[in-house]
Amino acid sequence: MISSEKILNELMNCARQQEPAFLADRVNAYVERSKNPISGGHFVKGRIPANDDIQLVSNDYLSISSHPEIAKANIESLRAYGHGHVNSAVFQKGDTPQRQFEIKAADWLSTEDSMLSQSGWCANAGLVQSLATPEVPVYLDMMAHMSLWEGVKSAGAKPRPFRHNNSKSLENLVKKYGQGVILVDSLYSTSGSICPLKEVANISSRYGCILVVDESHSLGVMGKQGAGLVDELGLADQVQFRTASLSKAFAARGGIIAGTARHIEYLRYESFPAIFSSAVLDHESAGFLAALEVIKKENNRRDDLNNNADFLRGQLRRLGYDVSESQSQIMSLVAGPEHQTIVLRDALEARGVFGSPFCAPATPKNRSLIRFSVNSGLTKEQLTRVVEVCREIKDIVQRENWPVAARVKQYQPAPRRRQPELSLAF
Ligand SMILES: Cc1ncc(COP(=O)(O)O)c(C=O)c1O
Repeated sequence: MISSEKILNELMNCARQQEPAFLADRVNAYVERSKNPISGGHFVKGRIPANDDIQLVSNDYLSISSHPEIAKANIESLRAYGHGHVNSAVFQKGDTPQRQFEIKAADWLSTEDSMLSQSGWCANAGLVQSLATPEVPVYLDMMAHMSLWEGVKSAGAKPRPFRHNNSKSLENLVKKYGQGVILVDSLYSTSGSICPLKEVANISSRYGCILVVDESHSLGVMGKQGAGLVDELGLADQVQFRTASLSKAFAARGGIIAGTARHIEYLRYESFPAIFSSAVLDHESAGFLAALEVIKKENNRRDDLNNNADFLRGQLRRLGYDVSESQSQIMSLVAGPEHQTIVLRDALEARGVFGSPFCAPATPKNRSLIRFSVNSGLTKEQLTRVVEVCREIKDIVQRENWPVAARVKQYQPAPRRRQPELSLAF
């Protein structure tokens, strides 16, 4: 087997021989970073997990990726129609599986209409590109997903970032720069924190802004029948657009935008990914239709997810890990500088526990972390094993050097959701 050090050296040489300097400089910076002895090697590669290792890396929060009803819908559609027309959605007409899903999703979300996208990235980037112009201020939470920032860039608009989950910081900017577009995630993907959405929606309404909420990590997980945070808080009338990746609780590949019929019609023929990139395939849409029914009716999966998340969060807290930003199924151990996060990653992986390593640009520099994503299918034994491993490594991961989380205003869950506790009820 070729060592990764050898591959990196070859990469370096290749770059020197064939590339113009402007590209070679960038690639070499990557290669240097990946073999940096201080950071301890490539940040995300780590060990390859064995079958019985515990993986807290999947976004399939409700554990439906192998659900028989969804697989059946995928297969039946594939057998009947193959891949369908294979073209841009602007050329697809009539009662297609995509259209059927859009109507059902809009009904579920209590909006007039919705539009299926090829991914959450396409949904967000295409939406913001279609809303903003260079003259329109776009207010983003500093931790908003990269696809929203990409939309701002694509629109040629000026980003006006506000402090994470800080409504006062948002309001100060809106007062200064005026009416514009506000972009937030409902549930933030690296910390598991939840947006103070009522306050944000009130500011948006007061100043006549357009509010976009990315519900990627809350759709299927929060709200009635999993309809998301906007639904849970009864804010549908104050939020003009909801977007989501369908590669989280829907456990497939796709994205969605929900809004008024007028706005969705406009987006279908204005958003670049909707026009210039091929549509979701018919069997994938058929799978989404089946997944939507599963998500709506199988409340037990949401209960199991909440129980599992509450248990792990509570136990980590008890062990002294700072998971105070997490209010959800996502919780992260923020070790800070990359070399410390690699020590943590290796300590976990050596004991059969895998999380997702995140570093800049996904996190602020020096706030790199290992993210644990909990799902409903984790067993009591698996979760207990994770806790045991975290206890075992406590003293070897240099926690005294880790940064302390910024205190964020705590989201108050609806009464149905359980508060964190230390016992595990299955
Ligand atoms: C909050 C958020 N929005 C959008 C996306 C992009 O979604 P997709 O993977 O479907 O492109 C992600 C995925 O990482 C995400 O976490």
